[in-house]
Amino acid sequence: MIEISASMLASNYLAFGEEALKMRRVGVDYLHMDVMDGKFVPNISFGAGVISAVHAACDAPLDVHLMVDDPARYLADFAESGASILTVHAECTPHLQRAVKQIQSLGMRAGVALNPATPLENLRWVMDDVDLILIMTVNPGFGGQKLIPATVEKVRQARRMIEASGREIRLEVDGGVAEKTCGDLIAAGADLLVAGSALFGAQDASRMVALLRGGER
Ligand code: DX5
Ligand code: ZN
Repeated sequence: MIEISASMLASNYLAFGEEALKMRRVGVDYLHMDVMDGKFVPNISFGAGVISAVHAACDAPLDVHLMVDDPARYLADFAESGASILTVHAECTPHLQRAVKQIQSLGMRAGVALNPATPLENLRWVMDDVDLILIMTVNPGFGGQKLIPATVEKVRQARRMIEASGREIRLEVDGGVAEKTCGDLIAAGADLLVAGSALFGAQDASRMVALLRGGER
């Protein structure tokens, strides 16, 4: 089943709560919360406090994408804020397997994200442990960028790794997901699509959710 995660980075920040509820109404499966520290990525967004507030206002499961250096410092904060999925970047910690296990012991599903230039090989020794793999289809830091074409092949190879593992691991893609790109991503094996500008910029967000889910062009 193809699931959709709405990236709140593209929402109207003055109406964050209403925007979250609207996304819930139009049928997204998750709210994608992009946490940026201004160090790992050249942008600053929001942290656990904002995520707690969204969690209190809206019952959508929260898919939290940590783009921060040394994420181990914050795992407990995000568990408390109500995250269902917590994803850390492989580039951000030398103790990736430990971070994955800590996330799970805090009651969340654990994701590992890779930047476009980071090899899939970095996942190899955590395949027994991860619940989700996030392939960045743009360089993280900003919404509204164009998908990098080479990442589609990377998604295909990640799907093969998941099949070889014999485990149920979600394959999430993030960046430049739109009507034109979702078909290729789904065909390559992605089953959880993050959409920011495509969803918040749509005239009819429910229709866009259906289009993205169906992978129609
Ligand atoms: C980028 C973020 C993405 C971003 C996606 O660093 O991780 O989640 O919000 O935005 P769009 O869908 O507009 O490319
Ligand atoms: Zn993201």
